Amino acid sequence: MSTTTSASRRAFLAATAASAAHVWIPRPVKGYTTAEILAPVKPMATGISKWDLDTPALCVDLDKLEQNIARMQRSLVANKLGSRPHAKTHKCAAIARLQMAAGALGICAAKLSEAEALAAEGLDRICLTTGNLSASKIRRAMQLRKRTPQFIQAVDYEPNAHDLNAAAKEAGIVADVVIDIAVGTRSGIPAGADALALAKLVDRLPNLKLRGVLSYDGGAQHITGFATRKERALTNIADNARTVEAMKRDGLNTEIFSGGGTGTYSIQHLVPGFTDVQVGSYVFMDMQYLAIGGEDGNPVYSDFASSLTVLGTIVNNRFPGRLTTDAGAKAFTLNVPRPGVIGEPGMDYNPGSDEFGTITFKQASRSYKMGDRLEMTVPHCDPVVNLYDYIYGIRQDRVEVVWPITARGHSQ
Ligand SMILES: Cc1ncc(COP(=O)(O)O)c(C=O)c1O
Repeated sequence: MSTTTSASRRAFLAATAASAAHVWIPRPVKGYTTAEILAPVKPMATGISKWDLDTPALCVDLDKLEQNIARMQRSLVANKLGSRPHAKTHKCAAIARLQMAAGALGICAAKLSEAEALAAEGLDRICLTTGNLSASKIRRAMQLRKRTPQFIQAVDYEPNAHDLNAAAKEAGIVADVVIDIAVGTRSGIPAGADALALAKLVDRLPNLKLRGVLSYDGGAQHITGFATRKERALTNIADNARTVEAMKRDGLNTEIFSGGGTGTYSIQHLVPGFTDVQVGSYVFMDMQYLAIGGEDGNPVYSDFASSLTVLGTIVNNRFPGRLTTDAGAKAFTLNVPRPGVIGEPGMDYNPGSDEFGTITFKQASRSYKMGDRLEMTVPHCDPVVNLYDYIYGIRQDRVEVVWPITARGHSQ
């Protein structure tokens, strides 16, 4: 190397030293796997008081959760029905395992990606209650069925049955299928001749195996007042039950006639031919369900305990009759009714700001300092759970376990 070149190189280095930030100096770096990059931040350890958790924190009271699962199972067994709990509510493999251990026939999933995530955690008896229409999802569903032989796919549309059959053939399987028969107008094929024709088609297609029928009545679940709810639920599903009877007469398989939810679980056994209930919210309960009223005439629906809460921290206490917390729409969603502050019936909690909750009150049970925690009941459990990576399992105010929300954000 010539002196001139070396001098100009030194000058260059000196000139750039001042702006060293612009000089990229390669250093050894740790190689992260995709799983590590995508893994959510690890939550705090177990054993601590729930009041020491960083917030907003999603919590489930384990005693109440266990009681809810046991109570549902006892009631369904007494009514000679099975349970196929809907995992759309909790999206959590650990809770699904508790439901299976209590005697569930299987679990339901609302979306293919939810089913895939739960299956990857070893849950094998999954019924996907929603049809898939895109070629890619149909193929994925049949691949899932190949990996998970007890997977069941819903179908409510004749061309879709043909597409499923083709995808099952391509995957080298005979796929289990249930016909989704509408109760109301949300989804599903209308009861009667259309549904019967679809059932016959599925029965004929060589790579599909007809297992029965789904009929979930979303409209009846939250009807206020037990007597009205019962009357409406039984009226709404009558045509579906007649269709199932017609299927039976025609020699079609009706081993599954599944539907119902937390609001009608104790009514469904009155539907002829009904086999199992797809209850979801009963594990947690929420403000919406608490308001529908019980069979005993109590305005609060108390068959199951409210086990799901969000903890928030007070970040502003400086204005009379007002508090601000760190838990807003991104902690609760904007569903109604508003979150309920536990122990403070006089407080109105408005989660309207993205990151802040605004509380107004005339009277509180005590005064609150900056940094104090409050615990809230959630408006509607399913969409709230979907906002969190982890749920803290609490027993007697201590964190006993931290469960990942396995299918959080899996909405495809
Ligand atoms: C198809 C289906 N089945 C079951 C459920 C669970 O119902 P619930 O949360 O009322 O128990 C739902 C909830 O939306 C649903 O969409």
